[in-house]
Amino acid sequence: MQDENRFLKINFEEPNNSLNQNTMDAVHVLFYSEKNLLLSHFFQEDNTLSSFLKKNITINTSNYVIVRSEKGTFLLVRRKLQKDKGFTDNYLEELGGNIYNSLKSIGYSNVKVYEDEADINLRIALGILLSSYNFSNYKKNKSEEKNTLNNVIFLCMEPKIIEEKYNDMVNIAKGVFTARDLVWEPPNILFPESFAHQCTQLQKIGVEVTVYDETELKKMGMEALLAVGRGSRKSSRVVVMKWLGGNSDNSIMSFIGKGVCFDSGGLSLKPPKSMEDMKWDMGGAATVTGLMETVASSKLKANIVGVIGLVENMPDGDAQRPGDVVKSVSGQTIEVLNTDAEGRLVLADLLSWTEKNIKPEFMINLATLTGAIIMALGNVRAGLFSNDKMIAKSIFNAGEKSGEKVWELPLDDEYDQLIKTEIADMKNIGGPGAGSITAACFLKRHVEKTPWAHIDIAGVTWKSKSSPTIPSGGIGWGVKMLYQLIKDRQKNLN
Ligand code: BES
Ligand code: ZN
Ligand code: ZN
Repeated sequence: MQDENRFLKINFEEPNNSLNQNTMDAVHVLFYSEKNLLLSHFFQEDNTLSSFLKKNITINTSNYVIVRSEKGTFLLVRRKLQKDKGFTDNYLEELGGNIYNSLKSIGYSNVKVYEDEADINLRIALGILLSSYNFSNYKKNKSEEKNTLNNVIFLCMEPKIIEEKYNDMVNIAKGVFTARDLVWEPPNILFPESFAHQCTQLQKIGVEVTVYDETELKKMGMEALLAVGRGSRKSSRVVVMKWLGGNSDNSIMSFIGKGVCFDSGGLSLKPPKSMEDMKWDMGGAATVTGLMETVASSKLKANIVGVIGLVENMPDGDAQRPGDVVKSVSGQTIEVLNTDAEGRLVLADLLSWTEKNIKPEFMINLATLTGAIIMALGNVRAGLFSNDKMIAKSIFNAGEKSGEKVWELPLDDEYDQLIKTEIADMKNIGGPGAGSITAACFLKRHVEKTPWAHIDIAGVTWKSKSSPTIPSGGIGWGVKMLYQLIKDRQKNLN
């Protein structure tokens, strides 16, 4: 859970007339159109200054120009004109991220941004928050990593109204930061039990949290999930997080996450290079946890349930063996031919259990499920698979708006045939090709009739190079997109 002090301070104020005499105390961020027309009109009255700034933006080809002058320091930002379609949230957030990154190094702690429109300000502010993230829990000298920038003021009309809406942006940032933190944490610190403990912190903001231990999971029939955890000294957990902010007769939207706190591959051991990344094989569970924080912090009038399966996949003497047969919650049997295809075993039990016990309107699972999805889509889009056109479309649309984009892949019967086996109802690997699809077919077999979507986030959970709003490392992918989806859904109901 996030401490408010972690975020840099962003305020909204009305501009006052003495503005022009008081330009030395901060960096002033002004916007220009692509044709170099000043969009922030506050400085227009001072002719010498505005023509001086205009000259600077005109002679520069960069979209972010820093000008130091006797009249103060300015960051001139060139941005698109808002056409009838408007800006996407993602465009504005990236603008905010670029502003943050341009200013980080120049040593000013105060920044003033001149823009009137509420929606533009809100998303730029969110971009600034998201790009200011850093993870330095394990650095001796934390101050090095501290933001130099700590006070941002948006000068705009009706600041009170914007301020209220700004809470929503902070709530999104809280969830994203939590998801990023969880992804960053090393596996000796974040294992099933300690992860579950972090989830219980959400009780402070009204989330109902139930943690199931191995004895209970056995009673619940989660043999496939437990089989994965068998090879580890760390015991497995399932956490159910409920936010019931809607009416009791409103349906429940459910989100399910793969939480493999470390994936060594088990007895089908991974080679060292591929194992390096496997602390973040709990990215799906991190996103679900972050989403619950955002939803509860916003006191959303909706019923949301998050279910995460926390295990560690290790090769102990009692680890599951290639060739083992296990029974899942659905009653179907699985031949485990490769212990490294463990995520699907965890999710299979969670999907059946959620469908039977939570009876949600839909289930969306997130999982760093296959390396093959990185071959197909790289680090740009996540893979989407679904048994329902409506839910797939809602996810796609929420992705385009938020910038956390997906691409749908097929689930034809011919692919499903590839996981047939003689000894059991299915095996946990397919043929050499279409690895992400056969994994999704496996999951689909554990959903009876509920609209369901699986998002394979193996390519979008960790970033090796930073982008405007995402420093390198844990991305927190999906918190923004799923929050958007929930809100879109609510709008359609009203
Ligand atoms: N956790 C991995 C998938 C993964 C790979 C995530 C790279 C992030 C980056 C998953 O459990 C796994 O090992 N999948 C295997 C499946 C195979 C054995 C059928 C894979 O993708 O190689
Ligand atoms: Zn694996
Ligand atoms: Zn895995």
